[in-house]
Amino acid sequence: MRRKLAAGNWKMNGSIPGLDMISELKLKHPECPCDVLLCPPTPLLTHALQNSAGSPIFIGAQDCHSEAKGAFTGDHSAAMIAEIGATHVIVGHSERREAYGETDAQVAAKARAAHEADLTAIVCIGESLEQREAGEALDVIKTQLAGSVPDGSTAASLVVAYEPIWAIGTGKIPTMEQIAEVHALIRTELGARFGEDAADIRLLYGGSVKPANATDIFALDNVDGALVGGASLSAEDFSPIIEALAAS
Ligand code: PGA
Repeated sequence: MRRKLAAGNWKMNGSIPGLDMISELKLKHPECPCDVLLCPPTPLLTHALQNSAGSPIFIGAQDCHSEAKGAFTGDHSAAMIAEIGATHVIVGHSERREAYGETDAQVAAKARAAHEADLTAIVCIGESLEQREAGEALDVIKTQLAGSVPDGSTAASLVVAYEPIWAIGTGKIPTMEQIAEVHALIRTELGARFGEDAADIRLLYGGSVKPANATDIFALDNVDGALVGGASLSAEDFSPIIEALAAS
């Protein structure tokens, strides 16, 4: 059985007072049949860990460097994230692929570094609108998945997030059939590569997940949760998404 995961990606949003939402989530979900993860900006990680202490809420980072240490001004390693007590790291988000030119190979190297530091890597993949309209979405997904997921990945060390770029922050989402089709493809591809163990790897959908559409998305086969941006910033929005996942 795959344990469902509601993951929040705060991007470059949030503040120390804003972390009060973690206390609200703690009160609303003292126990939850699914995992809950929040990924605030790096400077807030330690505070977030303090706020989440004594609760089942996991805290993760939004990126890491592929090297363990060195002259990389402004970066942080996977081991540094693990050392403070965070458990997950998002790698290969489309915003990083686009703004910083991150390639599949670099994303795989970051995921490998995460694994070496005992972090769970949330590897993001997703097609652009142009690629979707050109009928290339499935090929793009296959290529990104093959190139971005490192060898040796396991259900404990890997989560894959399918995030169509055109659905991120836009309020648009693919049809339920399109989401199900991509998730089935990812499951099949992981199975071909990792064998039976792939059945336990969690697959998240991401891109404009809101309380209003969460129940429909979570009802789909091979959707084990969501990577949520905007709607993860407040307990008011994120809590109903957690509830929808718990009920799915
Ligand atoms: P969104 O972002 O939920 O605001 O669309 C999702 C993401 O980028 O992970």
